Amino acid sequence: MDRALTTALAREQRAFLGRQRPAWAPHLDAVRSFLGQGLREARGPALVLGAGSGLEVPWFLAPPGTVGWDADPWSRVLTLLRHRRWAPWVFQDLTGGLDELWATALRTARQPWSGRVRATRAASRRLAGLVASLDPSAAPLRAWIAERRPGTILAANVMGQFGVQAQRTVERAFRGFSPWTDEEEDPLDAALRGWTARAVAAFLGVLGASGADLWLVHDRGVLFGDATLSLGPPAEPWTAQLISEVPLEAEDPLGGVDVLRALPGRSAERHQRWLWTVAPGQVHVMEALRFRATGPDPES
Ligand SMILES: C[S@@+](CC[C@H](N)C(=O)[O-])C[C@H]1O[C@@H](n2cnc3c(N)ncnc32)[C@H](O)[C@@H]1O
Repeated sequence: MDRALTTALAREQRAFLGRQRPAWAPHLDAVRSFLGQGLREARGPALVLGAGSGLEVPWFLAPPGTVGWDADPWSRVLTLLRHRRWAPWVFQDLTGGLDELWATALRTARQPWSGRVRATRAASRRLAGLVASLDPSAAPLRAWIAERRPGTILAANVMGQFGVQAQRTVERAFRGFSPWTDEEEDPLDAALRGWTARAVAAFLGVLGASGADLWLVHDRGVLFGDATLSLGPPAEPWTAQLISEVPLEAEDPLGGVDVLRALPGRSAERHQRWLWTVAPGQVHVMEALRFRATGPDPES
């Protein structure tokens, strides 16, 4: 993965960890309990995707040989410091497409001879057209799983990051200039939503085909504003579960992908949602899903 991207990822992770965390306790209890169960019931060494610094991952429950995967170059060391566990690690981009997106955005946003930013509407539109043809296919993850065949995979709050990383990648290429236009339906924004949907669908496709036991936690929705909010009884789509007296500004970090439908042949054995106040005025609807393995037990 390009160094500029990994450095930026590391910076974002530090900013994430530096936030005021006392209000995170209910989220951390819920996510650690869910991922902890996944590790306790793991069929052999597990694979933890989006392992980060292990804030959400109770590594003491992980079977020996459990592998962490995170593109942040500091994630493994931070996990060692937090958990005293030097786990085998993969540092690659889970989408398999960020490098290509970065190269495409650089080519479009900067003049090749001077490196000067072309902060024009035409450059944004051209990039939007090119992004539509990019295909983040999760190739590194597919290859790794085909070779190692993990019996249990945990996706630890990473899937909702794919779209955010894509946006930041494009913004970095425009180096401080906004790539967004003031049009109601910004073409670049729409193209990146498409990119995100393809990345999430490919990622889930690889997980679904792995045959492994799956424990998935992700941002199902992100809500902005100061409205008082709660969750009603389980309902689909996720927006139907929200209870608020005022209209909400909701974003879908998964680009419109319905996780349950993206895993054909699998039905969720456990399905849970909760609210996480990440910062004042920013609430995430978290979703945890457990899917039983379809492949043979690697231990037997
Ligand atoms: C919200 S944090 C999850 C925190 C983590 N589960 C923990 O317990 O610390 C998302 C993590 O996903 C990683 N990440 C984001 N996009 C990624 C990508 N495309 N490939 C690999 N890792 C990625 C980030 O570096 C970050 O550590």
